[in-house]
This record gives sequence, C-alpha cells and structure tokens, in this order.
Amino acid sequence: MPLHWDAESLSRTLAPLAAGLRVEVAAELDSTNTALLDRARSGDARPCLLVAERQTAGRGRLGRAWWSQPGQALTFSLGLPLAPRDWSGLSLAVGLSLAESLGEPVGIKWPNDLWLRHEDRKLGGILIEVLPLPADTARPGARWVVIGAGLNILPIAEAASPAGADTFRTGYACLREFDPDATAAAVLHRVAAPLLQTVLDFETRGLAPLLSRFAARDVLAGRAVRAGDLAGTACGLSPDGALLLREAGDRVYSIHSGEVSVRPC
Ligand code: BTN
Repeated sequence: MPLHWDAESLSRTLAPLAAGLRVEVAAELDSTNTALLDRARSGDARPCLLVAERQTAGRGRLGRAWWSQPGQALTFSLGLPLAPRDWSGLSLAVGLSLAESLGEPVGIKWPNDLWLRHEDRKLGGILIEVLPLPADTARPGARWVVIGAGLNILPIAEAASPAGADTFRTGYACLREFDPDATAAAVLHRVAAPLLQTVLDFETRGLAPLLSRFAARDVLAGRAVRAGDLAGTACGLSPDGALLLREAGDRVYSIHSGEVSVRPC
C-alpha cells in the first residue's frame, strides 16, 4: 500500500524555519545520507529533508549497515549548511530532540542511540556526516551537514534480518510498542520541525542549554558500562558532550567517541 507523506504540508511547516528547505520523498534510495552528500559534492547545497521509503544500502555508525523494510522504519536525512562555533555535541542535540518528540518512554544511549527506556532495546539510530563547502558559496565557517535518522516503527521478524546486519545488536524495539498510531509519515511530521529548530538553535547556542534535558533522558547514567578497555560507572556528560566514566579507583575519564556497552549486573 502506498504511504501518504503529505510532503507539501510538511514543507509549509518547515519553510519559516529554514528558507528554501525542500521536502522530498523517494520510493527507493541506496541511502538518504549518501544521496545528500553526493548532491552537495556536485554543488547542490540547498537545505533538504529527504525521506526514503526503502533504503537498499542504509548506513549506520562505525561503518555498520542499517537495514530496514519499507513501512517498518522511518528513514530520512536532513541536509543543510551549518556554522556552529563548536560542532561537539550536535549528535547529542539531535538525539535529544528526537527522544523528546517521540515521547516519555524514549531515552538516549550516549552518544545518540534511541532506546526504549528501562528495557535497553534500540528504537532508532542517528548518523551525522559533515562535508566542507566551497568558501565562495558558504557563510564563513559553514559546512554541509547531513543528519540521518532511522526510527523503527513496526515489529520485525528477527529471522528476516540479513546476516551481518546491525539491527539487533542491542535488542530491537519499535514505536508501535507504546504508540498504536505510529506510522512512518505521522512520526516524520511529529519530529521534523522540532529537529530542525534544535539544529538551528544548536548553531547559535551550542550544547550547554540542552545538558540538563539530556540528563533526564540518559539511559547510561549510574550504570556499569564498558568503553574499549575502560570499565566503570557512567556519570553524565562533560560540558562538551563527552561521556564521563568513573573507574573503581574514582578516576573519571572523558569518552569522546566510540562504542559504549552496558555491563550485565
Ligand atoms: C546507527 O545507529 O548506527 C545509525 C543509523 C542511522 C540510519 C539512518 S537511516 C537514514 C539515514 N541514511 C542512512 O544511510 N543512514 C541514516
């Protein structure tokens, strides 16, 4: 059954926030992130919200594949020129915006995985990629940023996941578990404007105003975690968005990138 996205009304909602932003829906793409990066490389750096009903080569963080079936997930990317003073924390701001739009049961697993709180199951993920822009086309310091999000809408049979796909590393969760009306289109309409507003606010104000709200959604806080060779207790974020990890000897480390896993109790 065709999905109804009502892209025109979404365009009207977003236009006052970002002049000229287009909303496009494609039946199939390899990856919405790849498509917007390719466009910018070929000179088209107009702001765009690009949705794909099906991605044939969706990409996740750390080089993983992001796999989904049509209708089962909302997959989109927001591409725009951005010139924040400090880029650190953009992915946290994006995760926070999505978590808050999706509702109370949604938490953030640092840096920006969306989890069903209290259950440690992954509802969605975010992949942010940045390209330089030709100096003559951009505001000073601006880069082309592509913010890709994949949000699980419907349950999926684990057996249907291709071998090697990353979908179930942390257990699968979907929005229908707590929102019986969730559809890909309805969720897009719910999350898009707050996300765009959050990104524009981040450009001018950075991460600082969001830290207390992040803390309220932080699923790792106070829990035993592992990050590479380090093991300890997650204890919130530093002002620049690094994860703070307290080792048994009370030494606190700042984790700036990579994967963090929750250790079994
Ligand atoms: C992750 O959790 O590893 C991040 C997953 C990000 C997936 C989304 S789906 C839309 C956009 N296009 C992509 O190729 N990836 C992102």
